[in-house]
Amino acid sequence: MKVAVYPGSFDPITNGHLDIIKRGAKVFDKIIVAVLVNIDKKCLFEINERVELIKKVTSNIDNIEVVSFSGLLMNFLKENNANVILKGLRTTYDFEYELQMAFMNNELDSSIETICMMTSQKNLHISSSAVKQVARFGGNIEGLVPKEIVSDIMTRINI
Ligand code: PNS
Repeated sequence: MKVAVYPGSFDPITNGHLDIIKRGAKVFDKIIVAVLVNIDKKCLFEINERVELIKKVTSNIDNIEVVSFSGLLMNFLKENNANVILKGLRTTYDFEYELQMAFMNNELDSSIETICMMTSQKNLHISSSAVKQVARFGGNIEGLVPKEIVSDIMTRINI
């Protein structure tokens, strides 16, 4: 069984993330969306909230699991009998960042592969931080994040 872990902060999940999850779920037997408990990053949503938002928008996908993790990603993979790290790539900036992380993870365990999936063109400009910035300054985030969570984000931003 090919299990891929799709890790990230997901603060919040965007249409770009959801697209990679849906496409990944067709390629792998199971996708584990692993949400990082960021200790040194100030997040808009708490860890359990980020997990719940992802669950809310992926409830129609059978072969996925959404969980939180802390510490090294490689340890999480081993604990979950997964052998692939799934990542999404948008620009060359992502490529540099992902290449460095893939090399580091390969150094830690060379039996695990990092597989990058190209973003869908319509999502090239979407990132969680851009979504938060647009929302903070009163812009429209519909089309950037799944519609079911637009109000969760706007409510939190306006607190
Ligand atoms: O969505 P993000 O914040 O770009 O995701 C980054 C993430 C979670 C993939 C990365 O920070 C990570 O894997 N963190 C776990 C710590 C770890 O394993 N570090 C070693 C590899 S560089």
